Amino acid sequence: SYYTEEYRPQFHFTPEQNWMNDPNGLVYYNGQYHLFYQYNPNGTTWGFMSWGHAVSTDLVHWKHLPIALECESDSNGNVLQMFFSGSAVVDVNNTSGFAVPVGKSRYGKVIYSTPMVAIYTSNYPTAHTQSNGVVIRAGQQSQSIAFSNDNGLTWTQYEGNPVIESPPAQYADQYQQFRDPFVFWYAPSSKWIMVASLAMEHILLIYSSDDLKNWTLQSQFGPENARFGQWECPSLFPLYVDGNKNTVKWVILMGINPGGVITGSGTQYILGSFNGTTFVPDPSDVYDPSQIPAGSTVFQDFESISSSFEELGWSATGDFSGLGPQNASTVQVWDIMGYLGTGVMTTYLFGDIAKGTITSPTFTITKQYISFLIAGGYYPYNPATAGTPDDNQVSFSLVIGGQVVHSQTGTDTEDLVWRNWNVAGWMGQEAYFIVTDVNTGPFAHLHVDEIIFSDSPKDEGNWFDFGPDYYAAATYNGLDINHRTVIGWMNNWAYAQNIPTSPWRSAMAVPRTLALKTIHNKVRLVQQPVSSLSSLYTSKLYSKQIQSLRAGETAINVPAPYNARMKLTVQFTRGSGTQFGVILRANTTDTQETVIGYDFLGQNVFVDRFKSGDNSFVDWQPNPYPGHFIATLPTKSTDCITLNIFLDWSSVEVFDGQGQAVITSQIFPLDDSAQVKLFSVGGTTNLVTVSVNGIKSSWT
Ligand code: FRU
Repeated sequence: SYYTEEYRPQFHFTPEQNWMNDPNGLVYYNGQYHLFYQYNPNGTTWGFMSWGHAVSTDLVHWKHLPIALECESDSNGNVLQMFFSGSAVVDVNNTSGFAVPVGKSRYGKVIYSTPMVAIYTSNYPTAHTQSNGVVIRAGQQSQSIAFSNDNGLTWTQYEGNPVIESPPAQYADQYQQFRDPFVFWYAPSSKWIMVASLAMEHILLIYSSDDLKNWTLQSQFGPENARFGQWECPSLFPLYVDGNKNTVKWVILMGINPGGVITGSGTQYILGSFNGTTFVPDPSDVYDPSQIPAGSTVFQDFESISSSFEELGWSATGDFSGLGPQNASTVQVWDIMGYLGTGVMTTYLFGDIAKGTITSPTFTITKQYISFLIAGGYYPYNPATAGTPDDNQVSFSLVIGGQVVHSQTGTDTEDLVWRNWNVAGWMGQEAYFIVTDVNTGPFAHLHVDEIIFSDSPKDEGNWFDFGPDYYAAATYNGLDINHRTVIGWMNNWAYAQNIPTSPWRSAMAVPRTLALKTIHNKVRLVQQPVSSLSSLYTSKLYSKQIQSLRAGETAINVPAPYNARMKLTVQFTRGSGTQFGVILRANTTDTQETVIGYDFLGQNVFVDRFKSGDNSFVDWQPNPYPGHFIATLPTKSTDCITLNIFLDWSSVEVFDGQGQAVITSQIFPLDDSAQVKLFSVGGTTNLVTVSVNGIKSSWT
């Protein structure tokens, strides 16, 4: 039988077999939604990147089609070209000249095809000279195009590729980090616009073109807001504010990896305006790095301390002997990773770092947020080692009750960036920090300059999804402004290649419709699953109103198989309790459960996957996979709060009623962990309504 393996999603897109990452080339044309995607035809981990292809008429049922663009190798097996992420457009005016005659009208007029054009990154692992004479350097990333005259089924690469060979001169050294073109038609100037990323620089380049072949650089944007790791898969699109046709704002949506809201991959957005050449962010939407929340207490300010961390009561285990500062000077700065004496803040530490751990003194959590100023991490993506970006990562983590509750992987950046951890759920508990080298390799380093405790977060930008598993989001071309639809990859580079699924690896999140809504005087990007998903809902399987839900757990009965695959909606109002929520995929011994709820004290929606099943596939410490994920949702004590929860066997997607607090998370529970419970902590929760629809499989 089809699509019935352990963990196989039933209403999410997965390839039949093999590895998948980013959605690519999302375009709606002739009644079909095309979904291309990063695909390895040869295995279940990243490699031989090609564009897989599927189509749908409703964004719910998908039909697999042949590979659209397949990785190319020479006769010695050297990979010459991988097809990295990008976009697709329908060239209705044949600006590209790729149309071909397909027949004649009855008056003898030649009828032409409408070309579909894909714009993607050619990633060239091997130095070579192309048949068109273009000399390619090893590891080069350039922007290329291909066209299809049969509705996306078969593709021809343009003979003049690449169409943008290198980044602009001042970024010439970034030729291996220039990728992920998103192209759209900008009607006011009748031009194609491309936004592409200089991943390590945290800069987006905006180009324009008349014909998709010749591109002119118009402007650049960034670095701004969250700027850890690499900026990848940017997109730029307009939306109405509050549905009002007279107020348009433009949205930049991008992936950031590592350095997402949780460890590893994340997605952020920035609102602003776009005039056909330049994106200008709204001043209220960019964060001021110098602002420190009022009432903060400094835990440790390493920048102004000239003693070693041992004198500060931190301890180290492991072997740090390979380290030493390049260009060591006499400036004394505490450097958290590995260098035990003097060093220079901005200096890389070279050498092979053996696995080691540095541990802080313990402290008691008395404020809602821990914020820290951090920089450094791993040396960039190395094409020589097939570019696994997790080679040399250093993690800064918070441990409470023996478990890592937050972890931030350091990345290679000169920018010092503030990050926040919400620790409202652990008030009064003992905690400590650890710094660990995750994967042994050269160049690993991390600087933590300052750690503060405060009751409000240090602003760090806008996260699109507050869970660990939403990345490389892309939106559809070819739909009107009220139907801007996004698909994200439901995985995280921190552990993506290890998740325990077979013979496929990775799913796409449910397609979501985007809108801008004014909430508490600020315009926010909000999202809801596409309405067509409801075509898979069963009739109501459970529905109940509870005037006052008592403290503790209350089981509810949802019949199999829908206890593992459902839409569950809860609405509730604060009673005497402090938390309310739902426990899904629980077993009878409580050793497995996924806890989803709202914390009235911390004012946040949360998903907790500490006990969600298998996490043994991550074999390094600290394990970045388990966790308690939080999305802030301010409410008043009389508010009726809504959570819509979509469970599909091995994932949960949680949306508050407005779609501003969204958490996407994979889970890998055992088959028979299928109990459903409500819970209320510390007292009652009032006016609770629960309703459950099963969700039918879209694959059978
Ligand atoms: C994001 C990404 C892109 C790149 C693709 C390669 O996940 O790293 O930047 O184009 O994956 O598969």
